[in-house]
Amino acid sequence: MSVRGRVALITGAAGSIGSATALALAAGGARLALADTAPLAGVEAETRAAGAEVLGITADVGDTGAVQAMVAATLAAYGRVDILATVAGITSQGTAADLPEAEWDRVIRINLKGTFLCCQAVIAPMRRQGYGRIVTIGSVLGKNGGNPRPWIDPSEQQRAGNVAYGVTKAGVHAMTAYLAKELAADGITVNAVAPGPVTSALTTKFPDSLRRLIPVGRMGTTADVARAITFLADDDAGFITGEVIDVNGGLWMD
Ligand SMILES: NC(=O)c1ccc[n+]([C@@H]2O[C@H](COP(=O)([O-])OP(=O)(O)OC[C@H]3O[C@@H](n4cnc5c(N)ncnc54)[C@H](O)[C@@H]3O)[C@@H](O)[C@H]2O)c1
Repeated sequence: MSVRGRVALITGAAGSIGSATALALAAGGARLALADTAPLAGVEAETRAAGAEVLGITADVGDTGAVQAMVAATLAAYGRVDILATVAGITSQGTAADLPEAEWDRVIRINLKGTFLCCQAVIAPMRRQGYGRIVTIGSVLGKNGGNPRPWIDPSEQQRAGNVAYGVTKAGVHAMTAYLAKELAADGITVNAVAPGPVTSALTTKFPDSLRRLIPVGRMGTTADVARAITFLADDDAGFITGEVIDVNGGLWMD
């Protein structure tokens, strides 16, 4: 892996995929800025134990001022920001017929606007450097019209029912392509990783009905996703941009 000495800003770093990504980048020798609204002490301690320089930042990605302060704190600590992984996100449930407007707004604010604000905030420093690796997090649910999520709610085995979430992730895929084209001449790549179902605290109940939907026959792991993120964050991934890499065990192929 070639991220040694690179400064990586990871949002959602206290979460399952974010902390796995932080650990993977720490293992490669990156210097870390870890952001979340949730406490970061655990991931900070783990990545420091792995030998990384670590800065913890409390920031709400849906808040423009907080996002600007997050990037400013990263620049103040390290003088640059080479890698941005926008892992912060929330899940959501609700069918189109009865989705409350407030739920639509909540998911759009964090998953879609939050991702955009973070990307936007690193454009100027990455342009000054003439270097950047932006990795966003989409989802299979942004492509397939939704699939049952029985590990969250058994009744969802019959229907998808997470339209707002899927729309935000489809938006992230589109945003990734637009930013990739806009920033390609500046040495900045922009790619997305689109995970399928990933094992976490929420996904302990993994029924056979779901296993049958996933050709490789298992849930993804946070390491599976972190591997794809670090691949795209690598110095040597400079000819890959505007791509959405599926990490879904074959659940959806396009
Ligand atoms: N777990 C899956 O099966 C799966 C599948 C596809 C995509 N994803 C996506 O991967 C990303 C990470 O998911 P995860 O499974 O690690 O979830 P998670 O809940 O473990 O982690 C998400 C993190 O984002 C943080 N966060 C939430 N709102 C925030 C805000 N406004 N500002 C800053 N931080 C905020 C949370 O505190 C949490 O630490 C999300 O974007 C999610 O949509 C997950």
